[in-house]
Formats: sequence, structure tokens, C-alpha cells
Amino acid sequence: MNTAHQSVMLTETLEIMAIKSGSVVIDATFGSGGHTQALLDQGATVIAFDWDTEAIERGVVRFKAAIAENKLFLIHESFSKLAEEVANLKQTEDLPISAVLFDFGTSSEQLMSAERGFSFMGDGPLDMRMDTRLAVMAKDILALVPEKQLEQLFREFSGEVHARAIAKAVKQSPTPITTTAQLVDCIAKVTHRKAHGLHPATKVFQALRIAVNGELSEIQLALPQALSVLEQGGRIVCIAFHEGEDRIVKQQFVQWEANKKVKKLYKKPLQPNETELQKNPRARSAKLRGVEKI
Ligand SMILES: C[S@@+](CC[C@H](N)C(=O)[O-])C[C@H]1O[C@@H](n2cnc3c(N)ncnc32)[C@H](O)[C@@H]1O
Repeated sequence: MNTAHQSVMLTETLEIMAIKSGSVVIDATFGSGGHTQALLDQGATVIAFDWDTEAIERGVVRFKAAIAENKLFLIHESFSKLAEEVANLKQTEDLPISAVLFDFGTSSEQLMSAERGFSFMGDGPLDMRMDTRLAVMAKDILALVPEKQLEQLFREFSGEVHARAIAKAVKQSPTPITTTAQLVDCIAKVTHRKAHGLHPATKVFQALRIAVNGELSEIQLALPQALSVLEQGGRIVCIAFHEGEDRIVKQQFVQWEANKKVKKLYKKPLQPNETELQKNPRARSAKLRGVEKI
């Protein structure tokens, strides 16, 4: 199976970022470097962030030449430290930022690596930390969070309709649930069927991943920083994959627009076209929103 990450909505992203040769842009979610590669190909200098050690290690090898030429600054840090890191770089480099890209969520490499615990498809430890410096793993949440709050977490972060039954089953499990296969079994016992064609464990895995990585607060913290580092006329592009991410982006953009800080580039979010969906079904839930700083 091809596990390489396919960059989502690449053509649309490049169009909106409107790169001119020599532009400096931020790729806040480097991942496998697909968007970064395309931005470099257009002549941009890229400041890229990822908090996943493995993503950075692969990037250092793949982009050795661009890093040596100061065309790519690869930063192993969370994007909620974006402003601080850019300020550090600006002490030594002249870097007027013309665009910031966020392509939220996990990469295929993270999802397909059983030992990272993101996927219900293979068996592995219930870890789910994108940044292994984080203290709490998914198995700790199952063990430490009380049943009622666990139910809320499943419902709020993924809209899981069987949240109550699953939380109860987790808490009543005769042995602690520490692996992805144990959690899948536990969910299967109380759900029995596929909802809307999704694997019954999809939503619970999503909710746990969001909780482990504090994904929603990361976005809330990062967006104002992205606006603050941008030049006037610079653009922010966000690709969201679930309702929780998209809601934060949408609300932030509406607030900025009301305060005359940005203009929206599109009334409605863009979604992948049929050709892309045929090649990459994982893109199906993507929603792209963009704004320009006034
Ligand atoms: C969907 S992938 C990005 C794929 C990339 N655009 C490409 O074309 O290869 C998301 C990446 O963002 C990283 N990420 C998610 N949240 C982050 C955060 N708060 N700070 C830094 N990196 C983050 C993940 O570790 C993952 O590697």
C-alpha cells in the first residue's frame, strides 16, 4: 500500500497563496513536505513548522539542499509558537511574510504507522501524540478521565452518537485498554454497525487524537499569530478536516472581517474536486478557507 502523504488541494492552495519568486511564506504544518516542495518550486523561501520529530527528521534528509541554501527553515516546534519562532529568525534574516498555510490534522505517515497509535486499522500502543514531548497519551486519557467526561469528550470532539455506551464500556473493561486493537474491540461490542459507511471506531479515534494533542487550542492560539506576522496584503490559507477545526477558522475569519483586519477570499469554503477525490479519498472532508490581510 502507498503510505506516502498526498498533499490536499495543492493547486487551489498555490493559487491562493499567489507566490512570487522570492516571496517568504510559512508552511505551519510541514508533514511530508508536499506543500513545502511545491512552494519551493515556485521560488518561495519557506519557514516550515512541525512538532513531530519523525516528520522533521525525514524533512532534513529530503530538503538538505534547500536548508543549506537558506531557502527552507525547518522548525521542530508547535505552530502555537509561530510568532516567537519567526521573531527569532528575523533577528538574523530579512523575512517579510506574504502567506501562511495551515493544513491541519495528521499526515498519512503518522496514520499508517501502527506504533504511533493513530489508526484503528493495525494494532499498536494507544499513544496518538504527534509531538512525543507531550506528556499524556490516549491510553492515559482512557484510564484517568472519569466516565461522564469521557462521554463528553467523544461527543464534543467528534459527534460520536454512541458516546455514552462507549465511555461506559471503556470504564467497565476488565483490563485497562492500552492498545488500538483493544479499543476497536471495545467499541465494536457496543456499536455493532457502521455509521454512514464509517468504521465504528473512526470518531472515537478522532476525538482522542484531538484531546491528546490539544488540537483545537493549538489552532486558536496560532491564528492570531499568523495574522500578526503577515505583511499587509498577505494571505492565510487553512485546510480543515473536521467540524471542530473548521468552526474555529470560520469564526476567527468572521471576527477579523468585522474588525476590518482582513477580507475574505471566498464566501464559502473550497472543497476538493472530483479528480482529486478519486486519486485521494482521504481528502473528502477537506474545507479550505482563505483571507487577505488589509
Ligand atoms: C496533514 S499533515 C500536513 C501535510 C503537508 N501539508 C504535506 O503536504 O505533506 C499535518 C502535519 O501538521 C503537523 N501538526 C499538526 N498540528 C501541529 C501543531 N500544533 N504544531 C506543529 N505541527 C503540527 C502534524 O504533525 C503533521 O505532520
